[in-house]
Amino acid sequence: MIVDGKQLRPIWLDADGRTVKVIDQRRLPHELVILDLTTVDQVIEAIVEMVVRGAPLIGVTGAYGVLIALHTAANEATYVKYCQRIAAARPTAVNLAWAVARVSAAVQSAVSPLERMAAAWREAATIDAEEVARCRRIGEHGARLIAAVSRAKNGAPVNILTHCNAGWLACVEWGTATAPIYVAHEQGIDLHVWVDETRPLNQGARLTAWELGKAGIRHTVVTDNAGGHLMQHGRVDLVIVGTDRTTRTGDVANKIGTYLKALAARDNHIPFYVALPSSTFDWERRDGLREIPIEERSADEVRFVQGLGPNQTERVLVPPAGSPAANPAFDVTPARLVTGFITERGVCAASEEGILRLFPEKK
Ligand code: MRU
Repeated sequence: MIVDGKQLRPIWLDADGRTVKVIDQRRLPHELVILDLTTVDQVIEAIVEMVVRGAPLIGVTGAYGVLIALHTAANEATYVKYCQRIAAARPTAVNLAWAVARVSAAVQSAVSPLERMAAAWREAATIDAEEVARCRRIGEHGARLIAAVSRAKNGAPVNILTHCNAGWLACVEWGTATAPIYVAHEQGIDLHVWVDETRPLNQGARLTAWELGKAGIRHTVVTDNAGGHLMQHGRVDLVIVGTDRTTRTGDVANKIGTYLKALAARDNHIPFYVALPSSTFDWERRDGLREIPIEERSADEVRFVQGLGPNQTERVLVPPAGSPAANPAFDVTPARLVTGFITERGVCAASEEGILRLFPEKK
């Protein structure tokens, strides 16, 4: 994406073919820092510590991670262990294990060490390019939904609420939930985005607000609890969120708090769409609540808040030092609360039947 006149991506492979460059998303929006990943431990740490985050992006990082594993493992057993550790670095986003498995399979069909590296590079670059193309198509399909709301409002601004960051920072380019917003904006549709701050790590306030601001899109950051109130007062036309894993029946795991937005949207008769590339469907699982692994992260992410102090980025403690905290990072929104999915193949109903109509090869 173009940021301050320059082309920027959250990840790319350096010209040496073995260094992965990433934007350190922990430092945004106040500092733009690029990190080099050259070892498997660095790749895993970047995923776990959320230097890189968002389902499609951690998939792409895992894919390049397999290439680094090949370059650095002393033997086959170590390479296999490296791949297993990368795939397990975060449990909820299905893209990670999917991408690692895909690159590993491509490597398996090659013979010499050089051929194996070439195969890993090709497959990782393909996944990277495919995610970009999928997100662009999600944008085109989703923009039609926004255009329809705009027409129904006679061109008055369309108010869209989004949660977390399902933007290009989470996906390489375009984003999932933000792709329809970027495309609609390109088409000249008047819109405004309510950005949930998304505690505890504030991906909305830090990352989505930064992305939208850089793209010149009107937006307002709100507390996570404001959505229901805004909906009750007719100030939200449409909700669009991303997802980390969606079952074949349409249950949606996404950033903690998504479920409450879906409940409020249903109570207020507001369409609630989930935008996702096919790489985020889990074709094996049917019951999201019982079967999707929910990541529990450090309580310190809840206890401390990070922001810009007078001179530098600072972390401050919010609750009493002795109060315990808990940090489930995702929740599951049942399919019955989802109006539809925006995928690279079009928009479908949030049901197994609706999904399989777009992806008949998964029947
Ligand atoms: O914990 P994060 O920041 O990785 O969570 C990201 C989300 O919940 C996104 O909404 C999801 O990955 C979709 S990204 C297009």
